[in-house]
Amino acid sequence: MRGIVLAGGAGTRLHPITRVASKQLQPVYDKPMIYYPLATLMLAGIREILLVSTPEDVPRFRDLLGDGQQWGVQIEYAVQPKPEGIAQVFLIGEEFIREEPVCLILGDNLFYGRMRLDEVVGEFRSGAMIFAYPVSDPERYGVVEMGKDEHVLTLEEKPARPRSNLAVPGIYLYGSDVVARTRELRPSARGELEITDLNLAYLARGSLRARQLGRGIAWLDTGTHMALLEASNFIAAIENRQGLKIACLEEIAFRRQWIDASQLRATIDAMPKSPYRAYLDLVLAESL
Ligand code: G1P
Repeated sequence: MRGIVLAGGAGTRLHPITRVASKQLQPVYDKPMIYYPLATLMLAGIREILLVSTPEDVPRFRDLLGDGQQWGVQIEYAVQPKPEGIAQVFLIGEEFIREEPVCLILGDNLFYGRMRLDEVVGEFRSGAMIFAYPVSDPERYGVVEMGKDEHVLTLEEKPARPRSNLAVPGIYLYGSDVVARTRELRPSARGELEITDLNLAYLARGSLRARQLGRGIAWLDTGTHMALLEASNFIAAIENRQGLKIACLEEIAFRRQWIDASQLRATIDAMPKSPYRAYLDLVLAESL
């Protein structure tokens, strides 16, 4: 399975912090926001990743993340020239996807907890899979109404009167037919290729499934200044209690044996003196 991270959008709601760099480059506690969705993909066992962003921000992401080899993954980049919808990434990423299934994650979606995504990815073959997560304000999201098993009854984008409290988080799995299905979509009233319309197309074909994420998993919002602060506080509370880091990409790569001790050593040596470096020093020392 291949992974796509969409880190687009102007982030205008977070003005002025997003004036010179996109939302997904802003910090969530001790690391850039984009580290968290990358960690989610890596923990799912996905090593071939396409990052899609605006023409202005792609060079910044490239500066920050490089080609991914320091984390034992491959990161490629592509530009979304205009904000023409989440589903447009499948047209932009057509050559990257080829004949493989793909996992899309939105660059501002933070997940914490045991999602078993590696198992889901391992079993996934075709069709589409979305997730469902209970929230107090479903009208702000895609909303799914579920039947038995993984059956989807209805799916609506930001409904005024939600039929359930289950929001659709920004992580989706598709078979390689996703490019063809996206081509059949028409832009919505706001001129975008909507991810919910794509999912509805799969629903119409009877090949959309939804898996509920348990309440023990945290799906954090980063859409407002307050939500961003709360996400930072959440990460800080757990990291400081455990003395372990969340979404530390070098650590994930090392524990998965995608990089060895000498590669980790070299990466650490290139880092400035910082708590992040000290943490990785500890990870390495404890493994020897
Ligand atoms: C998008 C999707 C929505 C989904 C949300 C998750 O909304 O359209 O269905 O629930 O991402 O973050 P947006 O954040 O672009 O308004």
